[in-house]
Amino acid sequence: MKQASWKPRVWIAFLSLALALPGCTDKIVYKDLPDYVAPPEGAAGFLGFSDVAAKRTTCGNCHSGKQAVWQSTAHARAWDDLANSGAQAKACESCHSVSHKGNFSTDTTGGYVATRNARYENVQCESCHGPGITHVTNPDIQGNKPLASLNVGASLTNGCGECHSSSHAPFVEQWAASRHGKAVGSRNQSSCWSCHEAKHALEAWGVNSNYVEKGDTARATALPVVCTVCHDPHNAKNPNQLRFPVDVPDVEQNLCMKCHHRRAEPEVTSSSGPHSPQGPVLLGEAGWIPPNFQYPPGSLVGTHGSDRNPKLCATCHVNSFTVNDALTGKFSFRATGHSFQPIPCVDGSGVPFPDPLTPCEDAQRSFKACVTCHLSENAARTARAVAKTRLTSLAADMDALVARIPASAFSTTDNKITTGEGCKFNSGLAKERGSPIHNPFLVEALLLACKTQIGIDYGLTSTSGISTRPLLQPPPNVKVK
Ligand code: HEC
Ligand code: HEC
Ligand code: HEC
Ligand code: HEC
Ligand code: HEC
Ligand code: HEC
Ligand code: HEC
Ligand code: HEC
Ligand code: HEC
Repeated sequence: MKQASWKPRVWIAFLSLALALPGCTDKIVYKDLPDYVAPPEGAAGFLGFSDVAAKRTTCGNCHSGKQAVWQSTAHARAWDDLANSGAQAKACESCHSVSHKGNFSTDTTGGYVATRNARYENVQCESCHGPGITHVTNPDIQGNKPLASLNVGASLTNGCGECHSSSHAPFVEQWAASRHGKAVGSRNQSSCWSCHEAKHALEAWGVNSNYVEKGDTARATALPVVCTVCHDPHNAKNPNQLRFPVDVPDVEQNLCMKCHHRRAEPEVTSSSGPHSPQGPVLLGEAGWIPPNFQYPPGSLVGTHGSDRNPKLCATCHVNSFTVNDALTGKFSFRATGHSFQPIPCVDGSGVPFPDPLTPCEDAQRSFKACVTCHLSENAARTARAVAKTRLTSLAADMDALVARIPASAFSTTDNKITTGEGCKFNSGLAKERGSPIHNPFLVEALLLACKTQIGIDYGLTSTSGISTRPLLQPPPNVKVK
């Protein structure tokens, strides 16, 4: 075994860094004499563990903060689970160990593949960061830093996607076809990117760590809502390595709601309708509240937005299931939930459409996400149809009324929200595809109160004959003022 030689000035750099930045010890922590065991022949520069039994990575000898959190992730036991599965074969190994998969290494036989050495077992730092020998030999050389990439790549063979792919784990394929995989769109202004672009989202959340694409602000290479926006690559403090919890009913803290709450109430200086209002709608905090509204703020919350649905958005939208062949009973498809479709369109055998954005009839949709609570898929399908019809007709009724309100009530410079403006906005909420499920109780109540208010303020009444009795029973915990 050969020990590397260490330059004293590197040492001093660590010490002074640690002393100068006591709050930043997660970044670089000087632990003890950094040491690495020279890799075996054919490793292609991968170092792997410096202590196999303790699962101590060579990188972790210096980056001990990262080592500690990484050790709590499923990546740190990927090999053990493979070995215990009883199905281990050579073809399984490159995704469950340190290899060229997940990083920029061009040597497809590096790490475990060539050496079959236990030091490369499990998904370690270098799986994502690439071979570390150059960096470890000279950690103070900027250009050698083994940065990880956020990019999943056009061919889906970069980063996380290179392992989280194929029929065994088709996360990247399903994500890429989803809206999150396409989210950059034509949104050009940087004010939009804190939700529509990966690097800006991380920045907005205070994740300032370094990665390959960090300084790249070019529009052409903007990244959509990639894996590492929702998942923390190192840390399992939340289940499934999520950066933020999904079980907290708070738009500032819930992973999904952090982006899905752009405009849930009308703005004085804008005539725009709702923009990703799903978080506040679910929690009963959306819409323009007419003066005659009978419910206390935030009280109209259904079971879907309550603690009886602990995973909130993720229960319906990150819904995984497997499909077995009807004849043979053998595994045929794994839906990972990463198309984010709550009621995906499926073919005759129950396999979701390859492009989840292709529309279909309600009868062709799977309602599997609902049957943990609703009696059957059909019961949920019917409940949705009833709520959808109700909100659609209330919105049409409201639009007809709003069209009769004098144009002077609609102004972006009068510094107030008029009843006309507020009710137009509420009608927009009723037209959101998700509203019949997210919170039909709130949206129905808002439109009914709007009808009354328009009568009071403008003397206008609807001629449609639509029922003003709530068709949807408010959830049992709601009390009228
Ligand atoms: C001998 C100690 C040592 C070892 C071992 C080591 N590093 Fe580093 N690493 C450093 C130092 C020092 C820096 C520079 C810190 C700085 O500039 O903020 C650094 C920087 C980095 C950075 C860039 C951080 C930034 O803010 O730009 C990454 C990524 C990184 N190391 C990953 C690794 C990986 C992966 C391994 C294992 C292959 C590893 N390191 C092993 C000492 C080490
Ligand atoms: C293309 C990369 C890849 C290959 C090849 C691969 N796996 Fe996996 N495996 C993964 C990923 C990614 C996960 C974790 C994601 C998931 O499915 O939840 C995983 C998870 C697992 C798990 C843990 C699942 C659990 O129940 O928690 C086992 C066991 C497993 N794989 C066994 C195997 C076996 C056996 C083979 C070979 C027949 C194999 N893997 C081949 C990528 C791969
Ligand atoms: C070298 C292959 C490889 C790479 C690269 C990789 N993973 Fe994994 N990942 C796995 C395997 C294998 C497992 C299954 C571990 C187990 O349960 O045994 C896994 C498990 C996971 C899990 C399940 C966690 C849990 O608590 O059950 C998440 C989430 C995950 N990976 C996210 C990511 C993200 C995000 C990236 C990119 C930043 C990534 N992975 C990169 C192979 C990989
Ligand atoms: C699943 C992939 C993955 C694994 C495994 C992984 N990293 Fe990272 N690492 C990333 C990504 C992606 C980033 C940039 C985004 C972030 O920090 O969330 C990163 C960032 C870093 C940084 C830069 C931090 C900064 O403040 O600038 C360091 C240092 C680092 N990782 C070290 C490690 C070490 C050490 C290990 C192993 C103990 C490790 N990583 C394991 C993917 C990974
Ligand atoms: C919009 C946020 C979001 C994005 C983007 C995202 N995920 Fe997830 N992922 C989740 C949530 C939420 C869960 C947990 C679901 C649950 O609790 O049941 C999850 C769970 C997982 C799991 C563990 C679940 C299992 O069945 O084993 C893996 C592995 C995973 N994601 C990998 C990925 C990969 C790879 C990507 C990128 C291709 C990705 N995720 C992109 C939100 C996201
Ligand atoms: C970083 C911000 C961000 C986070 C976090 C996020 N989303 Fe999104 N989401 C978006 C953006 C932006 C779009 C719109 C993409 C487009 O179509 O341009 C979107 C689209 C969607 C869509 C598709 C909407 C449609 O019209 O079909 C669903 C469903 C969705 N998100 C659910 C979720 C869920 C569930 C979570 C949490 C697990 C989540 N999102 C987390 C930003 C985010
Ligand atoms: C607070 C987060 C956030 C900000 C900031 C934001 N958006 Fe969005 N936007 C979303 C989310 C989440 C979605 C997806 C949910 C939906 O469609 O309701 C979305 C959806 C969209 C869509 C509809 C996508 C489609 O094809 O259906 C457009 C267009 C859009 N945003 C444009 C913009 C523009 C332009 C800006 C900047 C002026 C912007 N957004 C700023 C979160 C945000
Ligand atoms: C966590 C349990 C749970 C899940 C999951 C769930 N529901 Fe519900 N849902 C309920 C309960 C309970 C009610 C009754 C009203 C209430 O308490 O909010 C309800 C009410 C509804 C309503 C309002 C109309 C009515 O009948 O009261 C619709 C529509 C609906 N659910 C559709 C769905 C669909 C579609 C899914 C799946 C995508 C789903 N639900 C998933 C528990 C659930
Ligand atoms: C009880 C199940 C359920 C819950 C909980 C849920 N959704 Fe939905 N969501 C749906 C259904 C069903 C649709 C309608 C899908 C369709 O028509 O294709 C939908 C639609 C959407 C859409 C499409 C855009 C639109 O018009 O509304 C987005 C975005 C979305 N949901 C995000 C979220 C977010 C974010 C959360 C958490 C705040 C959430 N959903 C909670 C079931 C649910």
